[in-house]
Amino acid sequence: MRATVTRLAGVALAVGSLTGLMAGPAVAATGATGAGDPYFPLQGNGGYDVASYDLSLRYDTVGRGLEGTATIRATATEAVKTFDLDLRRALTVSSVTVNGTTASFAQPANLGQELVVTPGATLTKGMAFTVVVRYAGRPEAVTDPDGSIEGWVETSDGAFVVGEPQGSPAWFPCNDSPRDKATYDFRVTVPSGVTAIANGELVSTTPAAGWTTFTWHNGEPMATYLATVTTGVFGVTTGTTPGGIPYYIATDPKVDTASQSVLRKVPAMTDYFVGLFGPYPFSSTGAVVDNAPEVGYALETQTKPLYDSPPDELTVSHELAHMWFGDSVTLSRWQDMWINEGFAEFGGWMWSEHTGQKSAQSYFNQYYAKNADSWVWKPPPADPGGPATMFAGSLYERGAMTLQALRVKLGDGTFFPMLRAWHAAKKYGNATVEDFTGFASTYTGRDLSAFFQAWLYADAKPTSW
Ligand code: ARG
Ligand code: ZN
Repeated sequence: MRATVTRLAGVALAVGSLTGLMAGPAVAATGATGAGDPYFPLQGNGGYDVASYDLSLRYDTVGRGLEGTATIRATATEAVKTFDLDLRRALTVSSVTVNGTTASFAQPANLGQELVVTPGATLTKGMAFTVVVRYAGRPEAVTDPDGSIEGWVETSDGAFVVGEPQGSPAWFPCNDSPRDKATYDFRVTVPSGVTAIANGELVSTTPAAGWTTFTWHNGEPMATYLATVTTGVFGVTTGTTPGGIPYYIATDPKVDTASQSVLRKVPAMTDYFVGLFGPYPFSSTGAVVDNAPEVGYALETQTKPLYDSPPDELTVSHELAHMWFGDSVTLSRWQDMWINEGFAEFGGWMWSEHTGQKSAQSYFNQYYAKNADSWVWKPPPADPGGPATMFAGSLYERGAMTLQALRVKLGDGTFFPMLRAWHAAKKYGNATVEDFTGFASTYTGRDLSAFFQAWLYADAKPTSW
């Protein structure tokens, strides 16, 4: 599932011969090796659009080996002779089929994370096809340009699995672009006593000879970076929020006591955000608190955010606000990070205000008091500068201040209905910063260009707006 995007041009190869023996289109392309994001040029691919991933995984939490079979249903967006999936080379592919027929494949060392697949026959434009990839290996953590780790992070009893911005190919072959959303089914087999937690809802738990298979279904569109299959020893609590949304909350026993007082608020937070942002876009909510403090951050893994250590209330409300802003409405390019983080941080401030703690305006005032040369102003939210600074504090705090300032300028009676309309308009899709600023101007019928220039673009502390 993908919005139309500009991508790097593929290499056109002539197909057909003078003898006229070859059938098919006159020209078939090599699908591009990247989806065209300037921050991560090899990420994602061209030539096709994924509809669903079916991932059967067996993870030996002691021996550390992962064996996988990925069944990917996709549609060719052009005539394709060869296409790529993203998969890191710590995982070795043993076979690939396309529509049930053996395909040739390669994991070239010079192409980083590309798995190059050549089906027996050219795929025609608009053709639905199924790729099955069998692979195995010991998945690795990925170090990002900002120095943080992600991907497959081994813990004492399993693995903490997070994929923003480029960790998903550490564990499954995919079209790793935030614009190609798909549905997911997970069948994860782990040793008895270990729990495997993925996105969506638990369908079944099947024990067999010392192993247990956990089947999860995530039925709404999801970006690859929001997928998880976190494993380990967990205590699990399930239920339904007062508003009727099922929840699944898991804690590593080592951090359970320190987590419970905040996790008890997950149902109320989810319901509060329904009132503020509009109908919940997914079929369940929740949380997973693991013991992986070396990671140093939480991630808004779809339907159940993942915490590396016991979270505080601001973090949990931030991650749940992401279900609307980040997960349902997802940045188009990594430079559009404000679309995710500014909105989630503002959501955390709103929960604080709603519960009689610090108001959003008090948060604004606290940060606004900072000097013109403070970290809070740089980089400007609409231009994070590059992959090393894409999660800079300014994206969060100046990003949330932007929304609080807009709230004050427009008034609650216009601002909150506008946020709900924004989510409704972009639900399950992608957005750029300019999509939002354009939407706000159209919605309000006002010229907000000076406001957004000061808050989102200017390389300086805003002084008038
Ligand atoms: N999106 C996460 C949040 O809610 C942060 C992820 C940071 N990831 C990274 N590789 N530095 O704040
Ligand atoms: Zn966030």
